[in-house]
Amino acid sequence: MLHVSRIADLRAACDAARAESLRVGLVPTMGFLHAGHRSLMRSAAAATDFVVVTIFVNPLQFGANEDLDPYPRYLAGDLDACAAEGVDCVFTPSPAEMYPRPPITSVHVEGLTAELCGAVRPTHFDGVTTVVAKLFAITGPCRAFFGRKDAQQLAVVTRMADDLNLPVEVVGCPIVREADGVAMSSRNAYLDRPDREAARVLSHALRRAVDAIVAGERDAKRVAHIVCATVGTEPRVELEYAEVRDAHELTPMVALEGSVLIALAARVGSTRLIDNVLVEVDGSKVSADLGVADLNAPGGSPCTAR
Ligand code: PAJ
Repeated sequence: MLHVSRIADLRAACDAARAESLRVGLVPTMGFLHAGHRSLMRSAAAATDFVVVTIFVNPLQFGANEDLDPYPRYLAGDLDACAAEGVDCVFTPSPAEMYPRPPITSVHVEGLTAELCGAVRPTHFDGVTTVVAKLFAITGPCRAFFGRKDAQQLAVVTRMADDLNLPVEVVGCPIVREADGVAMSSRNAYLDRPDREAARVLSHALRRAVDAIVAGERDAKRVAHIVCATVGTEPRVELEYAEVRDAHELTPMVALEGSVLIALAARVGSTRLIDNVLVEVDGSKVSADLGVADLNAPGGSPCTAR
């Protein structure tokens, strides 16, 4: 496995791969890799020939009062995980390599970033799109794999690549969950035991919303209410938002039809967690993508399939 920290070296490795007619697959991450990240590496390996994982805790996407400094970092473990997944190249730039001087250019995606997580984290998505645009520019033509865990991020990055004609095909991949349904996240490391148990209410609430839709509910407000009411039963969890949106445009929905995103954000203790479910509604037909269980866990298997 190639391990590079210089932009020029990653660019050269990707150019060399393409010169050999290898398709490049990119998996951008902030490290502290878990099974969710590893599932992206597997999707990349299945669809491309030269898999690049980038590990960079991007200061630009953290607000002034957010967790940039305590954000968990574990490079040795991350390199082991990448090697175990058969990754071809890992890119671990320093902040100085990525931002030799404070950038005065940024990428802003209008509208899609204004609400949901953008309402509480007003500078976050500009930081994400700016660093992802840089990673796309460095890597060059490729397929880039993103988790649906960060559904708004996926919508924003997809639209950015489209609007700017970037030579990158953005691919969305299912959410990987712990055995008890909690979505994997590097930030789960912040949760103490009672908070970790309380966090289960989030995926539970989404599942209840899906059950209601399967049973015939089509009113977006009532579906959102089911999520709110379920999360409300857990006193350790403070809901920030529960929204029912068009999955691509992120616009509010009234009656459920087409690709429906039910998304939430909540504080569990001092930790902010997000989760969502993608539901396809076609008249009376409903299929929901609640994600998959950790494929490495004993007995791990898809936990969706409706
Ligand atoms: P990070 O939080 O490390 O996530 C990297 C990628 O892993 C994202 O595409 C995210 O959606 C995906 N991911 C995280 N948890 C997942 C889970 N449980 N199941 C499936 N995929 C999951 O997202 C970022 O980093 C950054 O914003 C980044 C895009 C790297 C830009 O800095």
